[in-house]
Amino acid sequence: MTGRMKGKAVIVTGGALGIGFGIVHRFVQEGAGVLLVDLNEEAARAAAEKLAGPGRVEVYPADVGAEETGEKVVARCVEVFGGLDILVNNAGIFPQAPVLEMAPELLDQVYRVNLKGLILIAKAAALQMVAQGRGGRIINIASIDAFRPSMVGLAAYDASKGGVVMFTKSLALELAPHNITVNAVAPGAIYTEGVAEADVSMEEFAKRIPLRRVGKPGDIAGVVAFLASADADYITGETIVVDGGALLT
Ligand SMILES: NC(=O)c1ccc[n+]([C@@H]2O[C@H](COP(=O)([O-])OP(=O)(O)OC[C@H]3O[C@@H](n4cnc5c(N)ncnc54)[C@H](O)[C@@H]3O)[C@@H](O)[C@H]2O)c1
Repeated sequence: MTGRMKGKAVIVTGGALGIGFGIVHRFVQEGAGVLLVDLNEEAARAAAEKLAGPGRVEVYPADVGAEETGEKVVARCVEVFGGLDILVNNAGIFPQAPVLEMAPELLDQVYRVNLKGLILIAKAAALQMVAQGRGGRIINIASIDAFRPSMVGLAAYDASKGGVVMFTKSLALELAPHNITVNAVAPGAIYTEGVAEADVSMEEFAKRIPLRRVGKPGDIAGVVAFLASADADYITGETIVVDGGALLT
């Protein structure tokens, strides 16, 4: 697959760690130019140093929840890579609190990053893609929690990811006349830095997964790369579940 994404300009949010880094790594391997957007500048620079060609990576430190981020990252991508072909909206947060103990601030924080930020970046990307007139790809990272809660404490997160799935469909309908496809990937349990910090036991999850292992960032990156490729030309508005069969149980 090396070279499949040669000449493509890609934005990946939350690309410093975890699933996002797996996605950046995959696109760089396939020859793309990637703008790695992340709040954590130090981790982003360390991530970029780990990557070797054939593609190229440029770090852009930014908070996806800030209203101006979409326009800024798109402008930077055009400046560095000459346009924008693919947006991967991956950055997301999963702070835990049962609804009965939830502070309103947690709701604001989750929706600001997971939904409002994702929507505004998609808007800015879509405006650029429409202006370019050569189609494009928008890929949002949802979660299997959009379809079934995995545990108590993630209600705000689960609702935000349900929103991501429905926004994906609405935007797909709106952008189809421009040959811009909009799809989502819904990961199950994937072992990442963020999950390592959270109060969840991956061993417990693994026991309940039919394929008997938790996922790795590469499991998601491969499906994102497929959705970004010509093989997925005729798919739009879809959410692909990548969970080792977890939703079957
Ligand atoms: N890991 C899982 O099991 C799992 C399951 C389902 C869905 N997801 C989703 O996948 C995505 C990535 O998850 P992960 O486990 O890799 O997370 P992670 O916490 O390991 O990494 C997230 C990255 O996003 C960055 N980030 C966080 N907030 C940001 C902001 N406001 N602006 C810019 N960057 C920001 C972080 O600095 C970090 O580099 C999230 O949307 C998450 O909801 C993860």
